[in-house]
Amino acid sequence: MKGVAILGSTGSIGRSALEVIRSNPGRFKVVTLAAGSNIALLKEQVEEFKPAFVSVLNKEAASVLKKSLPVPAGAGVEGAELAASYEGVDVVISAISGAAGLLPTLAAIRAGKEVALANKETLVAAGPLVMEEAKKRGVRIIPVDSEHSAIFQSLAGNRRQDLRRIILTASGGPFLNRPVGGLDSVTPEEALRHPKWSMGKKISIDSATLMNKGLEVIEASHLFGLPGERISVIIHPQAVVHSMVEYADGSIISQMSVPDMKGPIAYALSFPERIAGVTPPLNLSGLKLDFTEPDLKRFPCLALAFEALAAGGTAPAALNAADEAAVEMFLKGRIPFTGIYRVISEVMGGYISRPIKTIADVLEADRTARQAAQSVKCLS
Ligand SMILES: NC(=O)c1ccc[n+]([C@@H]2O[C@H](COP(=O)([O-])OP(=O)(O)OC[C@H]3O[C@@H](n4cnc5c(N)ncnc54)[C@H](OP(=O)(O)O)[C@@H]3O)[C@@H](O)[C@H]2O)c1
Repeated sequence: MKGVAILGSTGSIGRSALEVIRSNPGRFKVVTLAAGSNIALLKEQVEEFKPAFVSVLNKEAASVLKKSLPVPAGAGVEGAELAASYEGVDVVISAISGAAGLLPTLAAIRAGKEVALANKETLVAAGPLVMEEAKKRGVRIIPVDSEHSAIFQSLAGNRRQDLRRIILTASGGPFLNRPVGGLDSVTPEEALRHPKWSMGKKISIDSATLMNKGLEVIEASHLFGLPGERISVIIHPQAVVHSMVEYADGSIISQMSVPDMKGPIAYALSFPERIAGVTPPLNLSGLKLDFTEPDLKRFPCLALAFEALAAGGTAPAALNAADEAAVEMFLKGRIPFTGIYRVISEVMGGYISRPIKTIADVLEADRTARQAAQSVKCLS
C-alpha cells in the first residue's frame, strides 16, 4: 500500500486526489494532509482518512484543530515541509496553489519522496534547482497537470532523439470568443467560470488570461528538458486532446480522455500501472476536434511567459510572483481584467534576470516582484 501526503488537500486537486484514494482503499493510505485555512473541510478529511499528521496555514488554526481532533498538527511552511517528508509517505501530491508550494515540494524531494506534481509554480520559479535536486536524490517527478501528464504518456516508449517538439493544448478559457475590446469590463465571476474545468481561483483566472499556459510552457521546459523554441501552444476548445508530441518523421502522438483531473492524478499515483474506471470512457462518436493558433492580442500574457523562459535565471520566478499579485488585485476589484497583463508587463519590462544559485535567489526574486507589482502606477 502506497503512503500518500497531500499538500493542498482542501483544494480542487486535493479533493480530487482524495476521491481517487477513497475509491481505491487497498492501494493508497493517506499519511499526511496539509491545507491552508479551510479548517472545517480539513476536519472532515481527518475524520475520514485518519492521517498521522496534518498541517495548516498558521499556528492559531493548528491549535483549534488539535483541540477538536486527536491528531498532531503543524503550521506554516515548516508544517507543510514536515507533512511532505513524514515517515511512511511514499508519494507526495504537491497541490498547494502558487509559489507557496515550492518549499514543501523541495522538502519532499530532499526527503527522497516521489512527487506527483500539480503545483507548476515549483518548476516555474525554481526549475533548474528542483530538477537538479531530484536528479541528485534519484527522485521521480510525475506530472499531474493534464497537459504534462499527456506529454509524459506520449513520450513513453519512444526514443528521445526522435522528438521534434511538444505541443501543449489550451482550451482558451471563458473569453476565447469575446471581442478583445470588451475584456476591460470582465468581472471576477465571469473570469472564474471556466467552460471545461472546475479549478481553484488562481488557476482559473490564469486560464482566462492564458498565463496558465505560459506557466505550463515553463514547467514543460524543465520537466522535459526542452527550450521554448521546441514547445508550441495550440488552442483546442474541446479540451479532449490533453497535449501532443511531434516526432522527427512527422508523427504526432497525443493522449485523449474526458477532462477530469482524477485521470492524471490516478496515473501519477499508480504509474506505471493504470487504475481501471477512474474516469468515464471518452465517446469518440461524433467528436469534433478544433485546433487554432493562440491570438497574442487577446492573450498577451502567453508571450510574456515565453520571454521569461528565454531570459532564464530568476525571470520566471518574478513573472510568476507578479502574476500572483496581479490576479489577487483583480479578484479584489482593484484592477480590471486587462490590468493583469499591464501589471505583469510593467514588472517584467526591463527586469534584470539573475542566475539562480540557491533557493534564496528565487525567494528574493519572488519578494521583489510582488512588491513591484503593488507599486505599478498604470492601474486605473
Ligand atoms: N485544479 C486543477 O484542475 C489543476 C490542474 C492542473 C494543475 N493545477 C495546479 O495545482 C495547484 C493547486 O490548484 P487548485 O486548483 O487545486 O487550487 P485551489 O483549489 O485554490 O487549492 C489550493 C490548496 O492549497 C492550499 N493552500 C493555499 N495556500 C497555502 C499555503 N500557504 N500553505 C498551505 N496550503 C495552502 C489551500 O488551502 P485552503 O483552501 O484550506 O486555504 C488549498 O488546499 C496549482 O498550482 C495549480 O496550478 C490545478
